[in-house]
Amino acid sequence: MYISNLKKQLSYWGLLLFILSCSERDVQVEEAYSFQQPVHFPAATYTLDNNPVSKKGFLLGKKLFNDPILSRDGSVSCSSCHLQATAFADSRQHPLSIGVDNRKGVRNAPSLANLAFMKEFFWDGGVTHLDFTPLNAIEASFEMDEKVENVVGRLNASEEYQQLFGKAFGIEEVTTPYMLHALSQFMVMMVSDNSRYDQYLLGTGELTPDELHGLVLFESKCGACHSGVLQSDFSYRNNGLDENPIDSGRTRITENRSDWGKFRVPSLRNIALTAPYMHDARFETLDEVLIHYREGIQYSETLDPLLENSLGITMTDEEQEQIIQFLKTLTDRELISDSRFFTTE
Ligand code: HEC
Ligand code: HEC
Repeated sequence: MYISNLKKQLSYWGLLLFILSCSERDVQVEEAYSFQQPVHFPAATYTLDNNPVSKKGFLLGKKLFNDPILSRDGSVSCSSCHLQATAFADSRQHPLSIGVDNRKGVRNAPSLANLAFMKEFFWDGGVTHLDFTPLNAIEASFEMDEKVENVVGRLNASEEYQQLFGKAFGIEEVTTPYMLHALSQFMVMMVSDNSRYDQYLLGTGELTPDELHGLVLFESKCGACHSGVLQSDFSYRNNGLDENPIDSGRTRITENRSDWGKFRVPSLRNIALTAPYMHDARFETLDEVLIHYREGIQYSETLDPLLENSLGITMTDEEQEQIIQFLKTLTDRELISDSRFFTTE
């Protein structure tokens, strides 16, 4: 009698534990797919309240990001130009992005890491909310060359997509705003906060003496523009690439002549992975970038006052090497090997 009661009790507790551990696992899974604010970053600017990340929304966004159904002829997906292996920048083989019919764009596709903390997007800041960034890619003739209505039409015609949108957002018909929300849920999760530099900042890792010296040099010589934990003050500046810049840069948006040739100061996170460099991909290596700042600055009317010194940014060869060593500590291996972003998962 006693034994059988005990058995009953044990199986009762066993069942309870089983249920508990299942729901704990569900909580862990949902947590793995919710947005986590890194403690040492500025607060996220993305409107998470309006579009909180869920596992279903993230996975739907991932499917869309990797699906060429978004392009006119089914040949190009977002991931054609934004690859996980390069922190979601383009590959080295495509200095200027390549869209449908092999049409060449005019700018280098930037890394998509840490978009959740930015307020303005593209090299010229032409888009002011992350949700709207895919529209440019879809409609640009040299990228996906398609009307958004047609994309949404194709998604609605797909039973699989209809079901996935239904599960993620509880809707019956796919609409543009929900498509954009799903893509944003996927993109805001591309947080790069675990480089060796982060570990150093958080006191969980160390930098070598050369890297540390590079950090000090970087802060004093580059930090006025590439400032803070994301290495950018997100202002628009002309860093002296050309005497007569061909790409008008920020002027495209403000229509103000005094913004000619100015571009958003880019974050340098994962910079060792995202060659070539600058909006037009003119430099192949970080050495070339440093040599530009040392001796290649071109004067023009909109050149940033910080770079007007005719000697450029002075440094020795050894200091150049140390700055590059520091820049390499910004590589986040966790981001590029994070299985949540794998196309096959
Ligand atoms: C043909 C290549 C190509 C495709 C396809 C493409 N992009 Fe891009 N993407 C670029 C280029 C180039 C830029 C920079 C554009 C500029 O600054 O004018 C960019 C910029 C961005 C930015 C802004 C990043 C920043 O730091 O400001 C986001 C976000 C983005 N793309 C998301 C997407 C999404 C989502 C898709 C799919 C719907 C997509 N891209 C498809 C090439 C591409
Ligand atoms: C006056 C502000 C300013 C200073 C100082 C400055 N930069 Fe920049 N940097 C920029 C701007 C603006 C761009 C983007 C220019 C473009 O693409 O046309 C840029 C681009 C870069 C890029 C290319 C990023 C990419 O994604 O392609 C690297 C690397 C870089 N800077 C490193 C440095 C280093 C290292 C220093 C110090 C030696 C430095 N910068 C000093 C403003 C500055």
